[in-house]
Amino acid sequence: MADKDGIKATKDYGIGIPQETRGFHVKGCNDYGWGMKSRLSKIFNPESGKALMLAFDHGYFLGPTSGLERLDLVIPPLAEYIDCYMGTRGGMTTCIDPAMTANKAIALRVSAGSSILDDDLSNELISVSIEEAIRMNADIMATQVFIGAPNQRQSIANLSKVINTGNAYGIPTMGVVAVGKDMERTPKYFRLATRIIAELGAHVVKCYYTDDFESVIASCPVPIVIAGGKKQPEKDALEMCYNAISKGAAGVDMGRNILQAEDPLAMVQAVRAIVHQGIDNKEAYDMYLELKAK
Ligand code: R5P
Repeated sequence: MADKDGIKATKDYGIGIPQETRGFHVKGCNDYGWGMKSRLSKIFNPESGKALMLAFDHGYFLGPTSGLERLDLVIPPLAEYIDCYMGTRGGMTTCIDPAMTANKAIALRVSAGSSILDDDLSNELISVSIEEAIRMNADIMATQVFIGAPNQRQSIANLSKVINTGNAYGIPTMGVVAVGKDMERTPKYFRLATRIIAELGAHVVKCYYTDDFESVIASCPVPIVIAGGKKQPEKDALEMCYNAISKGAAGVDMGRNILQAEDPLAMVQAVRAIVHQGIDNKEAYDMYLELKAK
């Protein structure tokens, strides 16, 4: 429809239309450039709109976490079922054969600076340059954001730096909501942290699942993927995945609940079925048990 000057009505341009109905399958990303949309489409499947990311970046501050001691052995069998690897520069280059990245996205951890030996984990810097991220063919860069922690300002500076440099090359940024030892894990806190990260320009936010998760999703204008967190019984982890996806999460970026599962290969397939096929947690748990029994 055109107005008297021959200009199309604003609604045809998507102005004033809720962002989720504006075309591109990744929330809030309708107006990004071609390269960025291409990278986001490798992470978020255009059919389901969702992503299954496998997180194995723990070593950057936790060292050899249980189940992740030999990334070269544990990651390859799972690769077939995931959309995106999430690892550190060293973890990726030493343990993931580049041939295994065909048709897979790469989420590269680019922040570092503290270790499990510190009381305060929030004192991070950016440890991987944009040139390295480009050389590694990263599809998204991930940096930790510590809202409310002693080094909040530095972590926001890190996030801003990554976004600024990534935007120059069409590489999106994932801001990771970090919860330190004594930090709050309430819906109110997650609404605050995810919204701050999105307003600062992050293209994707990673955060923990929480009660009232719909309100966290609703107030964050970009996709949220959930972190798995500490190992839970497989049944509970699948229930958390289902709850998150059914309440609007755009995906799962899970590590220990897959890698420390009794049967990681069965677990990754059950998680995948929740994320991409929309099955519920009961069906997924049955699927896990069936696959595990084989
Ligand atoms: C977040 O702080 C880091 O990316 C973690 O290393 C990642 O979230 C670990 O995944 P999970 O909690 O599922 O083991």
